[in-house]
Amino acid sequence: MSHRSARFPGESFLAGVAFAVALVFPALADEPGGDREAGKRLAGQCRTCHGMEGLAQIPIAPHIGGEPAVYLESQLKAFRDGQREHEMMSIVARGLSDAQIADLAAWYAGHQIEVELQADQAQAPAACVMCHGADGLHQVPDAPNLAGEANIYIDTQLKAFRSGRRSHDIMSEIAAAMTDQEIRAAADWYADVKITITEVE
Ligand code: HEC
Ligand code: HEC
Repeated sequence: MSHRSARFPGESFLAGVAFAVALVFPALADEPGGDREAGKRLAGQCRTCHGMEGLAQIPIAPHIGGEPAVYLESQLKAFRDGQREHEMMSIVARGLSDAQIADLAAWYAGHQIEVELQADQAQAPAACVMCHGADGLHQVPDAPNLAGEANIYIDTQLKAFRSGRRSHDIMSEIAAAMTDQEIRAAADWYADVKITITEVE
């Protein structure tokens, strides 16, 4: 009896570990499944706007180097399938197969992003840090980095979530509650972070 009851804490500890592992493993399972070499060849189609390493070359394009592969894949599929629309990206993504999308995601996700916060971390938009970090580096695998994106890009995306032009369970709800001023403040905060993206072969 005592033996049996003594095992309970251990069992719940193990259950706790199993739970923690279950939380960690989806992140590991999100490691790029694509072929980076093939992705690099395909990235020739992206470089005028996103660079080879994913550092934006035009102000309206986001940085995509070092983003989580799952996020890059989900967005490319959303553009291809019409859930997310943009005059340039919808055309770019139209002809991509699932395998090519995985390869491109693996290529761009594999680069190294470093951030340098210019301001006091304590001033970061509190409603965002849990998923996007104070410095704009993603804290959960399906959330993008916001660090160093142009403020107009962040502003536009938040307004798209708010108006329903872009839709996502979490972000649509968060943006729906934001005023133009709050949107601008969050956009300015993350745009202000200095980033370096280093190409990783
Ligand atoms: C002519 C310029 C151009 C080209 C070429 C281009 N993109 Fe884009 N890309 C953009 C713009 C502009 C956006 C922002 C779209 C928006 O505002 O919704 C974008 C957005 C994206 C996003 C969403 C990123 C995010 O943070 O949500 C991904 C992923 C992406 N592009 C990948 C690619 C890949 C991979 C290629 C090559 C196969 C490519 N793009 C080629 C201009 C381009
Ligand atoms: C609970 C997690 C969570 C919180 C909190 C959160 N986000 Fe997000 N955010 C996400 C996820 C997940 C996505 C990807 C949405 C998609 O797949 O379209 C996202 C996407 C975005 C994008 C689009 C970026 C791009 O590259 O296109 C912006 C901008 C953004 N969030 C800003 C914010 C801001 C500002 C806040 C705080 C006011 C915030 N988010 C709070 C999870 C979160």
